[in-house]
Amino acid sequence: MLTISELCKQYTGPSGTLPVLSGVNFTVEEGDFLVILGKSGCGKTTLLRIIGGFLPADSGSVLLDQRPVDEPSDQMIMIFQSFDQLFPWFTLEENIAYALKKTKKIKDAHARMETARHYLEITGLLEFGDHYPHTLSGGMKQRGALARAMALKPRLLLMDEPFSSLDYLTRKAAQASLINLVSSNGSTVILVTHDIEEALRLGTKIAILDKDSHRLSFWYDHPKDRPHLKEELEEALR
Ligand SMILES: Nc1ncnc2c1ncn2[C@@H]1O[C@H](COP(=O)(O)OP(=O)(O)OP(=O)(O)O)[C@@H](O)[C@H]1O
Ligand SMILES: [Mg+2]
Repeated sequence: MLTISELCKQYTGPSGTLPVLSGVNFTVEEGDFLVILGKSGCGKTTLLRIIGGFLPADSGSVLLDQRPVDEPSDQMIMIFQSFDQLFPWFTLEENIAYALKKTKKIKDAHARMETARHYLEITGLLEFGDHYPHTLSGGMKQRGALARAMALKPRLLLMDEPFSSLDYLTRKAAQASLINLVSSNGSTVILVTHDIEEALRLGTKIAILDKDSHRLSFWYDHPKDRPHLKEELEEALR
């Protein structure tokens, strides 16, 4: 579904050039939940932004369904770390219904509200449907953003450390919402994080983006089958 070939990117600034990606290759199949782990500053956001078509690579290619990605498309939705992705002037329910209207996914207004409520239910937010974002906690806003993204049924969901600012219990609840959404929609996801436990909880495939070589240094197709993977990942990220 997604093929990344020989992706290279460097930034040029006053202190010279900084290589970030130097020949990154991988493929994502339909239904994969790929978690890319990496230390802070290793290039995770850069990689996701290139995949989403928000940032051009210096060389290499990103193919979605065999077609080059060179600009953002509604086939892919990116979820950021920030809590403020919802429109403040809409309630939670209206945020989702508006996204469905704007992308012309559902024509009928009543059906849009029904769909919005369905996704709020999966994320445990049904009773907050008529709340405005500023009255919700960070974790609830992030789950709301997730519900909105999933209601649009993107071909590929890109997630940039979406839960890293949440406290432990809130993060676990948000991860559980994500697992529910993914299994109910059969979605394909790439999530980047520095959190090994999050990778083990969510990933059906796990890779490491190495800060020194600027490439993927590990790739695990069946992480659940590796008994000491946590220790291996800790060692690799040290
Ligand atoms: N627009 C830019 N111009 C110059 N350098 C940049 C730019 N964006 C990122 N960088 C640098 O490129 C490197 C990779 O940044 P990136 O944001 O992709 O890393 P990251 O893995 O997402 O980090 P974090 O875990 O802290 O979010 C960092 O050293 C960063 O300072
Ligand atoms: Mg980042």
